[in-house]
Amino acid sequence: MDTILIRGGASLKGTIPISGAKNATLPALAATLLTSEKVHLSNIPHLADVTTMLELLGQHGAALTVDEKLGVEIDNKGINNFCAPYDLVSTMRASILVMGPMLARYGQAEISMPGGCAIGSRPVNLHIQGLRAMGADISLGDGYIRAKAKRLQGAKIYLEPVTVTGTENLLMAATLADGVTILENAAREPEVVDLANMLISMGAKIQGAGSSTITIEGVEELHGTKHSIIPDRIETATFIIAAAITDGDIILTNTQAEYLAVPIENFRQVGIDISLEGEGNMRVRGNGGLKAIDIQTSPYPGFPTDIQAQMLVLNSVSDGISTVTENIFENRFMHVSELQRLGADIKIQGNSVRVRGVDKLIGAPVMATDLRASASLVLAGLAAEGETLISRVYHLDRGYERIEEKLLALGADIKRLSE
Ligand code: EPZ
Repeated sequence: MDTILIRGGASLKGTIPISGAKNATLPALAATLLTSEKVHLSNIPHLADVTTMLELLGQHGAALTVDEKLGVEIDNKGINNFCAPYDLVSTMRASILVMGPMLARYGQAEISMPGGCAIGSRPVNLHIQGLRAMGADISLGDGYIRAKAKRLQGAKIYLEPVTVTGTENLLMAATLADGVTILENAAREPEVVDLANMLISMGAKIQGAGSSTITIEGVEELHGTKHSIIPDRIETATFIIAAAITDGDIILTNTQAEYLAVPIENFRQVGIDISLEGEGNMRVRGNGGLKAIDIQTSPYPGFPTDIQAQMLVLNSVSDGISTVTENIFENRFMHVSELQRLGADIKIQGNSVRVRGVDKLIGAPVMATDLRASASLVLAGLAAEGETLISRVYHLDRGYERIEEKLLALGADIKRLSE
């Protein structure tokens, strides 16, 4: 298994492009199941999770053509297998996203129950309840969800708590249902809006994406399309913090500040200098004097849970005492004990952590436990004095495209060691 070795202290300088959003790519790939015409997706990030989703589509019978310009063409004329097997679903829970489209287009789906993961039990009851409300006959047994439906019917569905992939699964299913579906308390994430825009370009009739109420009028069929994936707001936020904690000065290109309005406001309160330069470019300067701030994670447009781990690192090397509260997942503090090994002064108190800023972190061997936790360890290693060796970096590869190459280009002393 690969490890990443970082010698901290370099101030990051230079320009890097932000990749396409993982959490927009995965539903977009699943949505291709809704048509038998060709779909071309561009600005696809090269990530382990994307490869897994492409593998999943391939074993359903999709014909895939990946082109060097970060694009992929999917031809689902030959879909002939409706089972998403345990070995793929267990490596990536977002595989559940094929359930809605497959049920809507083919009337059947057999999906391995996604297990829990490091950050929580991650139930999918809302996905199942929503599809049942639309008339699907769904049974659970020997680790599989088995769903059948002659044709899904429009329904009014209230989602509590807000669920991103639950909203996406039901949104996709509703596009081919008979009648109107209303999703209430729907997720408002930019990735949900991007999916809706792609579906509309395929002929779907959707209103209200980005708000808490999405209305979908089912149609008989959807046609092919060409769609470009939106930039990754979580990668953008990760690099903003990297620049801040290394007193750096970097330019991020191909990104979208509007998807990060609340976090950028918070980062500016900490003292990070963020200026928007032209369409899709952002300049980030860390000039010391960072002040830690309190954060509560919440569904979009609030502070994203996917930036919580990275925020702990920022607060750990900023002045003052702060509290970060995790309101989305029940076990998303696995990175805290690893950050403590690097000298961070963090104490877990229920679903909050109290952070006292320290003058410096000290490098040490640490272990990644989940995707965003591993990103926080990279950030801490960049700021720490001495060497940090991160193991189990396969977690990192799931969600960050070539992160060590991008950081190397910005002057970081970082290298991947392959065993
Ligand atoms: C999506 O996960 C993202 N993944 C996650 O990103 C992200 O952390 C999460 O949304 C929250 O923003 C993708 O988009 C592929 P949820 P998802 O359903 O959809 C509860 C990353 O690092 N819930 O919005 O699985 C659930 O337990 C990943 O890129 C139910 O109770 O999350 C949680 O407490 C990590 N029943 C809350 O809702 C359900 O049926 C939000 O979960 C579904 C969810």
